[in-house]
Amino acid sequence: MTEGTHSMVKTQKTDGMTTIVFGADHGGFELKSVLIEHAKDLGYSVIDSGIFTPEAVDYPDMAEAAIRVMLSGRAEKAVLICGTGIGISISANKIPGVRCALCTNATCARLSREHNDANALALGGRIVGAELAKDILRAFLKAEFLGGRHARRVGKIMALENFE
Ligand code: RB5
Repeated sequence: MTEGTHSMVKTQKTDGMTTIVFGADHGGFELKSVLIEHAKDLGYSVIDSGIFTPEAVDYPDMAEAAIRVMLSGRAEKAVLICGTGIGISISANKIPGVRCALCTNATCARLSREHNDANALALGGRIVGAELAKDILRAFLKAEFLGGRHARRVGKIMALENFE
């Protein structure tokens, strides 16, 4: 992606806290701010990988920026928001190592962690309201991967990265 306002990273990190990176396009700009404040209220450190103004940008660039932060080890999980959540989740899932779950309810968010070991959550800023999005975020951040039979299946997901 091009350098500029889109590629800046704003970090509000406190040692010892789990860090979440938030990225959005213009369709997720407002919800990103709401969820960043909510995550901070819940005690998480946050990294904001943009966008920082409501100007139109391309969601693959915003997915890439946030996922780069996560895969560098600076954040444990990523929250990605575009208008529907579809484009940004498709984009993120093209990057090796990413398991991004597009969720419209808290049950799916919880199960995406428990069964799929999702490391990224995608939301639609034009689809879910702020309170529902907060519920979804809390469910995603609170749940843990259950392992066991799910680990075998997640292993098979990751093996698909070698598809030819
Ligand atoms: C941008 O208008 C919109 O297409 C984008 O935010 C997203 O919804 C795409 O999947």
